[in-house]
Amino acid sequence: MSKEKTRPSPGPSPFSWKIISASVLLPLLALVGLWISGRIPLSSKEYSICSKSGNIYTVDEARPQVECISVQDSHISYTGSLQGLRERLQWRYNNFWLSSWPMSRLFYGFPRISYIPSGAIVVPGLADAHAHIMINGFKMQLELDACTSIAEVIDTIKTYIRSHPDIHHNSSRWIQGGGWDQTKWPEKRFPKAADFDKDPLLKGRPIALQRVDEHATWVSSRVLEIMGDLPTDVEGGSIIRDSSGVPTGVFLDNAMSLVPTPQWTDEQMATFFETTMKVALSHGLTSIHDAGSSPEIIKFMKSLAEAGKIPMRLYVMGHVPSDTYWGSKIPRLVNYGKHGRLTVRSIKLVSDGALGSWGAALLEPYTDKPDSSGIMRSTPRVMSDLVTQFWKDGWQVNVHCIGDRANHVILDIFEDLIGVSNASVSEWRPRIEHAQIMTLEDLERTSRLRVIASVQPTHATSDMWYAESRLGPKRIKGAYAYRTLLNGSQKHILPLGSDFPVEGVNPLLGFYAAISRLSIDGTSPHGRGGWYPSEALTRAQALKGMTLDAAYASFSENETGSLTPGKKADFVVFDVDIMQMPVESILGTKVLATVVDGEVAYGALPPV
Ligand SMILES: *[C@@H]1O[C@H](CO)[C@@H](O)[C@H](O)[C@H]1NC(C)=O
Ligand SMILES: *[C@@H]1O[C@H](CO)[C@@H](O)[C@H](O)[C@H]1NC(C)=O
Ligand SMILES: *[C@@H]1O[C@H](CO)[C@@H](O)[C@H](O)[C@H]1NC(C)=O
Ligand SMILES: *[C@@H]1O[C@H](CO)[C@@H](O)[C@H](O)[C@H]1NC(C)=O
Ligand SMILES: [Zn+2]
Repeated sequence: MSKEKTRPSPGPSPFSWKIISASVLLPLLALVGLWISGRIPLSSKEYSICSKSGNIYTVDEARPQVECISVQDSHISYTGSLQGLRERLQWRYNNFWLSSWPMSRLFYGFPRISYIPSGAIVVPGLADAHAHIMINGFKMQLELDACTSIAEVIDTIKTYIRSHPDIHHNSSRWIQGGGWDQTKWPEKRFPKAADFDKDPLLKGRPIALQRVDEHATWVSSRVLEIMGDLPTDVEGGSIIRDSSGVPTGVFLDNAMSLVPTPQWTDEQMATFFETTMKVALSHGLTSIHDAGSSPEIIKFMKSLAEAGKIPMRLYVMGHVPSDTYWGSKIPRLVNYGKHGRLTVRSIKLVSDGALGSWGAALLEPYTDKPDSSGIMRSTPRVMSDLVTQFWKDGWQVNVHCIGDRANHVILDIFEDLIGVSNASVSEWRPRIEHAQIMTLEDLERTSRLRVIASVQPTHATSDMWYAESRLGPKRIKGAYAYRTLLNGSQKHILPLGSDFPVEGVNPLLGFYAAISRLSIDGTSPHGRGGWYPSEALTRAQALKGMTLDAAYASFSENETGSLTPGKKADFVVFDVDIMQMPVESILGTKVLATVVDGEVAYGALPPV
């Protein structure tokens, strides 16, 4: 304190020079050491990947295709030609005194260049801009996507029961899974609780199965028994009933929350999370925008982040199914955790249901169900209050909108905030998730307002078989209109996602669907040229949608989304060139390596 300062300094002592030299020289030496280690990276920290045919697609406008990239620690340190890389390495050898020292190579190492196999390519790490991590893991317990009839669903459940003795021997254990889709069955109708009762192994068991779009739950009679008396109506949802008013076992949208499924245990959550991470990395994903997680799941992910157990970048939208403002229930996390991979700065709201279950909210009745126009989950007033409060509190607001009514209502709300309250679009970056069916005026309005449309190309190719019968020939013109949305976008942003587990996890399914508008067997209602092919994207547009545009939609375009020096070293090595090869072969592509933060997270890089 001040007393110390006024005290006369002691006279020179025999030790003072030693103290001074130590206090000056040691830091100096340390500085030199730091300088050397900073300038001359240890061999283990830097490596380069090259393609002799120049097939490294960077999604960086400045240098779209290069021969080599270098990675230093967790970042890209160089992109360019092989010649340029050699000169760069040579220059270092020549310019540091350490290199003339025989021991230098030991520290410096040889420049580690590995060459990808001929035909292979490198692209930036792929992002899925809309997916459901935990639900996917949950669903992978018992998957029903491949079932082509109710009988097949029953058989799949029986196999599942027989292979799980704990469930087999305890008929009170819940059986849960998902992926059923009545549009793929000869029956076409919604299934019923009674369908389970015909089988002695299933009769009496609590069973709850999610529809493929997660907008309907099909339960067994045992579950109906447990549920007891049901409300007559559910706002924003519905209970399917027979002609005499008895519930048949299918609950839509908001009514799904009536089903008393047991809470997930911590152990289950860990399993669901790890299952999804593993399969996602194996397909080349390095970033997932999770489209709605509860405070409990975010808490679980936060603890994983702290323990360094999140293997890729997660951009999680908080979600609470409530019409009362819930912003305070979600923690705000940016590049959080040991590896800085968890971000929670956005929230998800749901405005309507899905097209497959006639739940999408339309401005006019369904063409194939004239007594219905779908379901708005909440009133426009409630949605407006929620969106406004989230905007005020600095949350990015991402709203699920399928039908043209849902899109219209939410665009009205965004337009008010942007046009009247002067919300800054580039700072707020509001998103419409799905943006599936829009009037032509609203497609134009989305562009004008610079609202981000976050779309899922596989929804177009899954829905194309029935979408036009639901919507009719006029409305279909504004549906799944990806090219129109992208072309209109002032920043040329169209983030792409899968909505897995509604669709497959493999991002190439989306890439293929976006560029071909064909089902995986090469067909479409309009033949082999694709369904409304004028709305197809080019390969470059699709790749950018799965990388840089998704990064923009998550405020990380400065850090990820392209192979650019200074950005994170997230990239994928594919065995073939998806940017050039025939469309019909794309889905045979294999991932050779998925790299996150410069480290291999799946597969292997070619040897040096
Ligand atoms: C059967 O499962 C139920 C529900 O999970 C559980 O409460 C009960 O303890 C189980 N019974 C046995 C004998 O394990
Ligand atoms: C928005 O900006 C306009 C023009 O600059 C201004 O007149 C208006 O008062 C602003 N509105 C709000 C709510 O700040
Ligand atoms: C793209 O948008 C521009 C205007 O922004 C328009 O002139 C052009 O016709 C559009 N192209 C397509 C293919 O829609
Ligand atoms: C990205 O960098 C630019 C230029 O430095 C900056 O203006 C912008 O705010 C950054 N974007 C984000 C999302 O941080
Ligand atoms: Zn979704």
